[in-house]
Amino acid sequence: MAAKPAGQRARRLVVLVSGSGTNLQALLDEIAATGAEAYGAGVVAVGADREGIEGLARAERAGLPTFVRKVKDYPTREEWDAALAEAVAAYEPDLVVSAGFMKIVGKEFLARFGGRFVNTHPALLPSFPGAHGVRDALAYGAKVTGCTVHFVDDGVDTGPIIAQGVVEIRDEDDESALHERIKEVERRLLVEVVGRLARNGYRIEGRKVVIQ
Ligand code: GRF
Repeated sequence: MAAKPAGQRARRLVVLVSGSGTNLQALLDEIAATGAEAYGAGVVAVGADREGIEGLARAERAGLPTFVRKVKDYPTREEWDAALAEAVAAYEPDLVVSAGFMKIVGKEFLARFGGRFVNTHPALLPSFPGAHGVRDALAYGAKVTGCTVHFVDDGVDTGPIIAQGVVEIRDEDDESALHERIKEVERRLLVEVVGRLARNGYRIEGRKVVIQ
């Protein structure tokens, strides 16, 4: 994606959520405080794979359009993936952000949004990929963990890394205490990274992400 020249419109973000949506909220708060033009991007819609979550309520309170595409409403995973891609595409995003979206997207979604689909993961990849990154780091006895903001490819948490933040693991940590400390770092990192991608533009060279 090319740099955003001063005066050009803010980049369009579609954010996907599955849970509490505190990462989404951090983006919304920063954009409200800075202004979409200065931040470089604004959220134009929020999508989810389930109803009744705080992430969607946050979007509604912010006056944003929302959409839900549930896997179980489609005969096949491929059809769900195509429907999700279609719903996202309707908002013509420059970047799509998976902020705690707990589904692996498929071929159709990646064909449309590959190279501009950003995910945040609560571990230092390539260690501890998958749905239980926090629990797995704790169980392994790691002394540090953290979070990784990366582009999504067709593997599970394997795409090119954009930025990482480190969090120390304490002896007394359980999964929830550790995850809360990771999320504090993660929210700041995501806000910082999405803004830089949007304002400066970037290119992906193999595994390297170069922000201009
Ligand atoms: C984040 O730690 C994300 O990395 C993980 O789930 C958490 C989502 O938190 N996959 P929230 O919904 O943004 O509060």
